[in-house]
Amino acid sequence: MAFKHKHLIDINEYSAEDLMTILETADSFRAVNERRVKKVPTLRGFTVVNMFNEPSTRTRSSFELAEKRLSCDTLNFGGSSTSTVKGESLDDTVATLCSYKIDMIVVRDKHAGVPRKVAEKSGVHVIDAGDGKHQHPTQALLDLYTIWKHKGSFEGLKVGIIGDIGHSRVCGSLIPALKKMGAHVTLIAPNTLLPARPDVLGADTVTTKLDEVLPELDVVYMLRIQRERLEGAPYPSLREYSMLYGLNRERERLMKPDAIVCHPGPINRGVELDSFMADHPTHSVILDQVYSGVLVRMAVLYLLLGGSEDENPA
Ligand code: CP
Repeated sequence: MAFKHKHLIDINEYSAEDLMTILETADSFRAVNERRVKKVPTLRGFTVVNMFNEPSTRTRSSFELAEKRLSCDTLNFGGSSTSTVKGESLDDTVATLCSYKIDMIVVRDKHAGVPRKVAEKSGVHVIDAGDGKHQHPTQALLDLYTIWKHKGSFEGLKVGIIGDIGHSRVCGSLIPALKKMGAHVTLIAPNTLLPARPDVLGADTVTTKLDEVLPELDVVYMLRIQRERLEGAPYPSLREYSMLYGLNRERERLMKPDAIVCHPGPINRGVELDSFMADHPTHSVILDQVYSGVLVRMAVLYLLLGGSEDENPA
């Protein structure tokens, strides 16, 4: 059966069953990525534009790799090297790209809502690769995949998301995704880094006290302080923030022995994570998350571009 979605823009439009289909499809692509010739002809003839109007290391590189490993033609586009700096509008830019008979646009933009606008204007498949403070659906999917592979299931799993929740697009997708899969989600942050109405994010609990909840957590998900999105100073100093909310050698003693530590990257080492925890041989799964990014992006490209849910694409 063909996958029923045309776009991946808002994770709230996906059911738990849809999310599981993506995780299982991602898992089937593991074999492709672990053999000598890491390429299948599955999407030969399709053209995907990666339109990144904001910096990215992980998302951009893993989309490009995922496309190439599926044999798509890819066009990398965006930022200060385009005619948007000469005043060309988003609509005209999209119309120009669509003249090339493309099949999909992957969009990262600092403004919330741009992927939806691109979908409306272009008529082709669109994947949101992170828009403003709104959503980052493929990040949530790679996080789900990593947690699933390490923990086996989501039901009743205790996940704590710690840090700059108010400025996080990762939270916009990850919290609803975890809730759909049956996890229990706690948000942990100083009040100044929470949105005005944290309840609307859909987590089960919200607290300012990391040390009280850390011993219960199966998944410790650290967020980066989004310095580029801060207005004013929401805490006295990075040192004080790190003392109260940073994950470090001292706090490791409070954690469950089998708790995993996730971070979407890039890490501010010494702020939300010290190097002991970021590189911890058993707790840290941060590089697994990066690898999962290729797998889930291959799965999403395959399913949205017409792949069947029922056959093994690898
Ligand atoms: N997690 C994430 O989106 O990282 P990049 O900004 O490097 O893509």
